[in-house]
Amino acid sequence: NVHRSSTFAPVNIAVIKYWGKRDTALNLPTNSSLSVTLSQDDLRTHTTASCSPKFTKDELVLNDEDQDISGARTQACLRELRGLRKEVEAKDGSVPKLSGMALKIVSENNFPTAAGLASSAAGFAALVRAIADLYTLPSSPAELSRIARQGSGSACRSLFGGYVAWKMGTEKDGSDSAAYEVAPASHWPDMRALILVASAEKKDVSSTVGMQATVKTSELFNHRAEHIVPARMTAMEECIKDRDFATFADLTMKDSNNFHATCLDTSPPVFYMNDTSRAAVRVCEAINTRAGKAICAYTFDAGPNAVVYYIAENEGQVAGILKSILGGKMGWNSLQGRAVQAAEMPKGMEIAAEMLERGVSRIILTAVGDGPRRSEEH
Ligand code: DP6
Repeated sequence: NVHRSSTFAPVNIAVIKYWGKRDTALNLPTNSSLSVTLSQDDLRTHTTASCSPKFTKDELVLNDEDQDISGARTQACLRELRGLRKEVEAKDGSVPKLSGMALKIVSENNFPTAAGLASSAAGFAALVRAIADLYTLPSSPAELSRIARQGSGSACRSLFGGYVAWKMGTEKDGSDSAAYEVAPASHWPDMRALILVASAEKKDVSSTVGMQATVKTSELFNHRAEHIVPARMTAMEECIKDRDFATFADLTMKDSNNFHATCLDTSPPVFYMNDTSRAAVRVCEAINTRAGKAICAYTFDAGPNAVVYYIAENEGQVAGILKSILGGKMGWNSLQGRAVQAAEMPKGMEIAAEMLERGVSRIILTAVGDGPRRSEEH
């Protein structure tokens, strides 16, 4: 008798970036952050958690490959979830003693690993949700986000759909460092995201290592964490409530640039953006200049891929221009079939367009989406 539960969990891309930890064991951040959850039709992790008295040891399989489950981050998640299951078992003697059984966790991403997209957020969110469902835990998504945070900081935001904030918290034990929903996807459903995949290579410096180098050596970083981000968090929550895209775009671009400035201010400096990334910035800036207001917003994580947010009604002017630059390289995902009209490029963009053509290997068109959901496929 094998007990089993499966879940889908989404990817999220921050518009106010998490960068820096005040506690590296618990993944407690030095600033709050805010992200948009992306549609699981396009990018998602599917995870099945099972347990049985017949299993002899905990196992983790990702995309058909055995993974090391002994890492401190995965172990922290398993320990917390088993602890909560023990409480359930102590309260009701008739429920099966699942907490004492070995677990088998099987995960699969529906997007190519080669795309170099952050998958740890969706991965840990799915792992935590699948085990919480297997254990029938009464925990809220906020409680589960505290557990997923210990797997990977950004994972705590993937427990919710729509527009999600991660409150940094001040407690030493991390009890108040959790994610919450700013607004559901249905509040502002026409938010679109276009991902320009700029590199299939593994990144130079992992975010875990890079952010602590910044914390240690950058003076700019303190100013960011103490002054810039707190004001931006408030402004960002407000413009999401008002569905004010121009302000959303302005804050998103500024925050990405500020985060990458702290990377450059790290010694030795850390470069995540490359020539292709900078060409994407130039093209977005030119699109906004021509429109007379911000109709698209770029943002970059710890790697060269550009994520460009825009509103559906401006698809022609944003995705359309990129389509005319990138021609046949449109994406492989579900929105691919949508008719995006190629639009004329703004003047003076020839060199940036050529850079993009050379450096971008694929485009993924997607949109804001919902939080994790149970799956009947195991
Ligand atoms: C630049 O969540 O990957 O994407 O907590 O060490 O696992 P760990 O780091 P991770 O860092 C993400 C950094 C970022 C910004 C963000 O997602 O907010």
